[in-house]
Amino acid sequence: MRYADLHRKSITDPNGFWMEQAKAIDWVTPPSKALFDDNAPLYEWFSDGMVNMCWNALDRHVEAGRGDQIAVIHDSPVTNSITRLSYAEMRDRVAALAGALAAQGITKGDRVIIYMPMVPEALMAMLACARLGAIHSVVFGGFAAHELAVRIDDAQPKCVIAASCGIEPGRVVAYKPLLDGAIAEASHKPDFCVVLQRDALAADLTPGRDHDWAEFVDGAAPADCVPVEGNHPSYVLYTSGTTGQPKGVIRATAGYMVALNWTMKNIYNLDQGDVFWTASDVGWVVGHSYICYGPLIAGNTTIVFEGKPVGTPDAGTFWRVISEHKVKSFFTAPTAFRAVKREDPAGAFVGKYDLSCLKTVYLAGERADPDTIQWAQRQLNVPVIDHWWQTETGWAIAANPIGYEPLPVKLGSPSVAMPGYDVQVLDEGGHPVSPGTLGAIAIKLPLPPGTLPNLWNAEARFRKSYLEQFPGYYATGDAGYMDEDGYIYIMARTDDVINVAGHRLSTGAMEEVLASHPDVAECAVIGVSDDLKGQLPLGFLCLNAGTTRDQSEIARECVKLVRDQIGPVAAFKLAVVVDRLPKTRSGKILRGTMVSIADGKEFKMPATIDDPAILDEIAIALKSLGYPKA
Ligand code: COA
Ligand code: AMP
Repeated sequence: MRYADLHRKSITDPNGFWMEQAKAIDWVTPPSKALFDDNAPLYEWFSDGMVNMCWNALDRHVEAGRGDQIAVIHDSPVTNSITRLSYAEMRDRVAALAGALAAQGITKGDRVIIYMPMVPEALMAMLACARLGAIHSVVFGGFAAHELAVRIDDAQPKCVIAASCGIEPGRVVAYKPLLDGAIAEASHKPDFCVVLQRDALAADLTPGRDHDWAEFVDGAAPADCVPVEGNHPSYVLYTSGTTGQPKGVIRATAGYMVALNWTMKNIYNLDQGDVFWTASDVGWVVGHSYICYGPLIAGNTTIVFEGKPVGTPDAGTFWRVISEHKVKSFFTAPTAFRAVKREDPAGAFVGKYDLSCLKTVYLAGERADPDTIQWAQRQLNVPVIDHWWQTETGWAIAANPIGYEPLPVKLGSPSVAMPGYDVQVLDEGGHPVSPGTLGAIAIKLPLPPGTLPNLWNAEARFRKSYLEQFPGYYATGDAGYMDEDGYIYIMARTDDVINVAGHRLSTGAMEEVLASHPDVAECAVIGVSDDLKGQLPLGFLCLNAGTTRDQSEIARECVKLVRDQIGPVAAFKLAVVVDRLPKTRSGKILRGTMVSIADGKEFKMPATIDDPAILDEIAIALKSLGYPKA
């Protein structure tokens, strides 16, 4: 069957299509059907099946006689070590951790926050939760204590599993003070913490609260896999919305497994035993789906990489890892390639390694600029495939089904809709537009298995954020167009979300932090274009009347405030004081116009602007920060 026909079948007969895919998963009790639509527009998949995700990711491979196959390779240039763990070892270590957690009272449905760097123990912690039916919530290590506190208060975890430190080039990030700060700030207090002590920096444990990981698991009775309902949340992953309160995306267990398993062959073209490397972080959705669960469910070998594309130690690290571990499919963010390209434009490092194992490269997380794609194609001589998805969906909305039927690549497009995604481009009134016309990209409900059924503790916000704008559709928050062949082009976000180095951030959240500075009366944060990171946040600050303090001092304090409150990952380093912000007559800040000025783009004077002269003041302020770039 051609891919186009397969896609059509997935839309017209979702039950038939997904029940067929569900056969690849081990069920304790098979589901009676795929789609549960009695509560539409809230949908669920495989709700009456019983299943366990850890079993599918680890035990079943051991049972099938592949226990000796390597499941996880930890390649860590920052600690100069490589560790390989077989499926049997992973199963045993996860069962022991799960047993220790169970002995401390963790049971099905309890939340566990995981705050860890790129170490295999992060995957073990996730899988141990899955083994017990506990709901994990991984928090990215680059977030500050406050962000962790916000997540602790929302998820109300019984336990936090952390490491003593993370290792960034040139500095060791002590996690314990961040963990302590977060727990002190949060109203909810976890019962206990488990801390993985790392050689680079040991943490002082808090008596009565913290357990040393090694002692915690030592001698623990291994736990069996606990069957859960298909619609049981496997995890909650927080992502940026328009405000400082992140959205807790729920991932239901069974549909996620079925969908991920489908993608491993049909998108990533991998068979059991093949090596897959996703150079991302377990703190992001890409890490959940394609460092941890997807490759393990499919019986691949997955690489946990603790390093950066450049500087650990050089711009050849990617190629070294691919060559050394025989990576067949490689997935990263365009930013990572831009970083390598900047240091090694001619690809001198590429020639040093035998890359014959590499068959395909996949990019996602932000817009892939054609320059970067073409550079990667030239250097690596393999197809470089852009694909588009979101934390909310958990797997690709649009991609090129390389393992099923490779479709022609069109530069600038992440290709076509994946099974179950009925992608449409709508005008403001919610009517489909013709091919080539820009509009809001929406997905006709139901979304396929694996995508979010709801937000954690926030159904009203779920409905408002995604379902109400276009009744009957899920609003993706992205704008773009579709061509006559169904290829999708993603052009911009329709909300306050920006994408910095492939990291999704909320300008609204940064504004909330800036507004808390005692001298700041009003502020606006925009995303300006950046050659390396795609976008960078830039803040405009209006000070309280009568403030006489040095303006650059205040701007520096604001930069520090965002770093302390949100974290270094916000990469907020640009702030400037202005007298006034450009607004419409109804008081709406004209952020889009400021972005155009910062990026040096032509723009139309907004008809509703209150005072056009303010734009000149903005241009002068931007110039002081070096924008627009030459
Ligand atoms: N723990 C603590 N701090 C972290 C961190 C972590 N896990 N990850 C990043 N940071 C810090 C960085 O050290 C940096 O700090 P600095 O301001 O002191 O330099 C800051 O957060 C900004 O990080 P980043 O924007 O990632 O910049 P970078 O210079 O460290 O790296 C790239 C740039 C391009 C190499 C890097 O962003 C990258 O590899 N991006 C790929 C993106 C990705 O994986 N996205 C996931 C979706 S696919
Ligand atoms: P996240 O939830 O962090 O994965 O971020 C999702 C957002 O990143 C999407 O809504 C898009 O705005 C953007 N994005 C992800 N992948 C792509 C892509 N391939 N092309 C363009 N934008 C992308």
